[in-house]
Amino acid sequence: MSVDKSGQRIRQMFGEISSRYDLNNHVLSGGVDYYWRHRTVAAIDFEVEGPILDACTGTGDLALAIARHQKGSRLVVGSDFTHQMLEIANQKHRAGKSAADRVPFIEADTQELPFADDTFAAVTVAFGLRNVTSTERGLKEMARVTKPGGQVLVLEFSKPKNRIISPLYQWYFRNVLPVIGQLLARNDQSAYDYLPQSVGEFPDGKELTDLMESCGMTNATWKPLTFGIATLYVARKPDASTATANDHAAA
Ligand SMILES: C[S@@+](CC[C@H](N)C(=O)[O-])C[C@H]1O[C@@H](n2cnc3c(N)ncnc32)[C@H](O)[C@@H]1O
Repeated sequence: MSVDKSGQRIRQMFGEISSRYDLNNHVLSGGVDYYWRHRTVAAIDFEVEGPILDACTGTGDLALAIARHQKGSRLVVGSDFTHQMLEIANQKHRAGKSAADRVPFIEADTQELPFADDTFAAVTVAFGLRNVTSTERGLKEMARVTKPGGQVLVLEFSKPKNRIISPLYQWYFRNVLPVIGQLLARNDQSAYDYLPQSVGEFPDGKELTDLMESCGMTNATWKPLTFGIATLYVARKPDASTATANDHAAA
């Protein structure tokens, strides 16, 4: 039976673990999550002008990292549908003293974003897309609000392919992580049982880049990080020049 990703279940689960989410993240990943976010920020094409959206922003770490990198020179917005996660993002926002001060956090479903078409230079999503009820609807909505020529960047867990790393990772993911996660989070919804199940079922590598392209993006690439435990996917929304190049290629 596939994992329950109804909006109600997901919101309740993240609401319950929100106060310990950051601690869990850093402990369970051994701090590698900072590096993964750093790689995501480094992959953004800042030549494209306009605001940046971090969808499924949770406690806001990626949105704040992008804002800090940009030193307040452009608007960075975070969106998420779990109120408690955004409360923590807002606490960090209030505690911030520089660029991070200017990140508005908005309560919104990634499948129905309250933004006009072609608004953002880049839309990022870190460890969020896997939790969205319909991956396709989430991707299409992220593409819709991206400017032509802008980027959609997805940072997500993936399944390591290495013969040695893969079984070690499976063992850690299935046996260690749920136990530590449960101890730290103390929630009834077994969020850390949900994690390996949802990663197991979620498309990775070429399967996800194909999906991104079928949802309105082009030139989708993927880069495995840390033995493929996570993967960074980057695609563009076609602009007039891409469309012309593709037309020529097809002719
Ligand atoms: C694992 S957390 C990731 C948070 C953050 N991006 C990070 O890197 O730590 C997943 C987040 O996705 C949010 N989420 C899941 N489905 C969503 C949806 N349909 N719309 C908006 N947010 C959603 C959850 O509320 C949660 O905050």
